[in-house]
Amino acid sequence: MLAQHFCNWRAPSAPEKSILCVGLELENIAEWPCQCALHTSPQEQQEAGRYLHIEDAARHLAGRALARRLLRAAFGQDCVAEFARSPYGKPFCPGVSADFSISHSGSMVWVALCRCASVGIDVESMRPLPDAAELTSQLHPQEQKDLLSLPQAELQTAFYRCWTRKEAIIKAVGMGLSIPLQSFSVNTGPQDSGWIASFTANAAQGTATMLEDGGQWTSLDIRTTEDYQCSVAAHSPCLDVVVCLAR
Ligand SMILES: CC(C)(COP(=O)(O)OP(=O)(O)OC[C@H]1O[C@@H](n2cnc3c(N)ncnc32)[C@H](O)[C@@H]1OP(=O)(O)O)[C@@H](O)C(=O)NCCC(=O)NCCS
Repeated sequence: MLAQHFCNWRAPSAPEKSILCVGLELENIAEWPCQCALHTSPQEQQEAGRYLHIEDAARHLAGRALARRLLRAAFGQDCVAEFARSPYGKPFCPGVSADFSISHSGSMVWVALCRCASVGIDVESMRPLPDAAELTSQLHPQEQKDLLSLPQAELQTAFYRCWTRKEAIIKAVGMGLSIPLQSFSVNTGPQDSGWIASFTANAAQGTATMLEDGGQWTSLDIRTTEDYQCSVAAHSPCLDVVVCLAR
C-alpha cells in the first residue's frame, strides 16, 4: 500500500471472540513516516526520530498507526490518546478492554487485536540464514532435535516457522525474553494451527500458569507473501482468526 492511501483505507472492526490480524505491506517505505503523523502521537514521532534508518522509523510509526486505526474502528474515535507500555515493554491502550500486538519486518507490518484474550503476533522476513543449524541451540531441546533432523533444504523455513511461533507466544504473554526460550516448545512441522506443544515448570514466574495449559490457546500461522513467515497466538481456545492483508 502506498502511504497516501492509508488515510482513506477502511480499517476493519474486530469482532468479539476472535483475533483480528491485519497486515500492511509498505510500498515506498520512506514516505510512511510523514503520512503516519495523523495517526500517531508526538511521543511516538519523537521515538521514531531516534532511529538511524528511516525504514525503522516507518515500521515503528506504521505499526502504531495501524494499531490505533484498528482500536478506533472497534471502540470509537475518542478511545485512544496515548499508548502506555507494560514494565516489559508491551504497548497497551489504557481504558480499553482489548489486547493488541505489533510486529514489523522488511516491508511488512502486522497488528493482532483481541477483545477477549492476550494476543501476540510475529512476522519475519525470511532472509537466507546460513547459520540456522547453530541458531537452533537457543531453542527447546525437542525443537532443536526436530529441526536438526530435517534435510538442509527444509531447515531454514522450519527454523523461521519455529521462531515466529515462539515469538508470538512470548509477545502474548508480554514478558519478552525473560521467558526462557528453552522453557516451552512448539511443533516445528508445517501444520498451521494448534502448534503449541509443551511447557516445563521453569518458565519465568507469572508465566507458568499461562503457559502450562497449551490447550487453552489459539495458535495459527498466517499466510502472507512467500518471503515472510507470520504467526499469531492468543490465550483463549478456539477463537476465530480474521485475517486481512492490505497491499
Ligand atoms: C521485543 C520482542 C517482544 C520482539 O521483538 P522483535 O521480534 O525483534 O520485533 P517485532 O517487530 O516483532 O516486535 C516489536 C514490537 O513488539 C512490541 N513489544 C515490545 N516489547 C514487548 C513485550 N514485552 N511483549 C509484547 N510485545 C512487545 C512493540 O510494539 C514493538 O514495536 P514498537 O516498539 O514499534 O511498538 C522481544 O521478544 C525480543 O526482543 N525478541 C528478540 C528476538 C528473539 O531472540 N527471539 C527468539 C524467538 S525463537
